[in-house]
Amino acid sequence: MRSLIAYLSYSGNTEEIAFIIKRILERKKHDVEMYEIGYNYHFPNISSYDYIFLGTFTWDLGSTPDEVKDFILEIGYKPPNVAVFGSGDTQFGGDELFCRAVDKLVTFYESKWEGLKIEQCPRGEQEKKIEKWVERVLTDDEDITKSKNVRAEIPY
Ligand SMILES: Cc1cc2nc3c(=O)[nH]c(=O)nc-3n(C[C@H](O)[C@H](O)[C@H](O)COP(=O)(O)O)c2cc1C
Repeated sequence: MRSLIAYLSYSGNTEEIAFIIKRILERKKHDVEMYEIGYNYHFPNISSYDYIFLGTFTWDLGSTPDEVKDFILEIGYKPPNVAVFGSGDTQFGGDELFCRAVDKLVTFYESKWEGLKIEQCPRGEQEKKIEKWVERVLTDDEDITKSKNVRAEIPY
């Protein structure tokens, strides 16, 4: 299996989640490629992956960061195999706005997997939550071959 983990992280929390996911997938013998949104030069060949793990933090009253929106636009279609994860902080608007960007991307991609939301950095109990979530994604993948082939609408 080939997996892409594409993520945006300013202060390192989402990146930490991304690397935990990487470790879990590699234990399961996935061939994993990391893509740091906004920094990597070569755009990944999206259709060549069995799974795309897309990670983002939430910003500015529940917003999706611009770099993530640009990345989505550059993909240009909605792959059917996107699993969304992210980091947030309930101090910025409570449960209502917590990891709202994750919810927005799940809706946008019509992802068949619930988004993974982590409060700040993924240590202790939250690490187990990541493990369980990855398990769920890998065991509940139905038909990941059918493409939705829909032009992107930007999830504001
Ligand atoms: C200006 C600002 C606005 C934020 N707004 C939200 C928000 O609306 N919802 C949320 O869950 N987290 C919000 N956060 C918290 C970040 O998403 C959180 O710190 C996250 O862990 C950062 O991820 P990173 O370390 O990968 O950059 C905000 C943080 C800042 C600095």
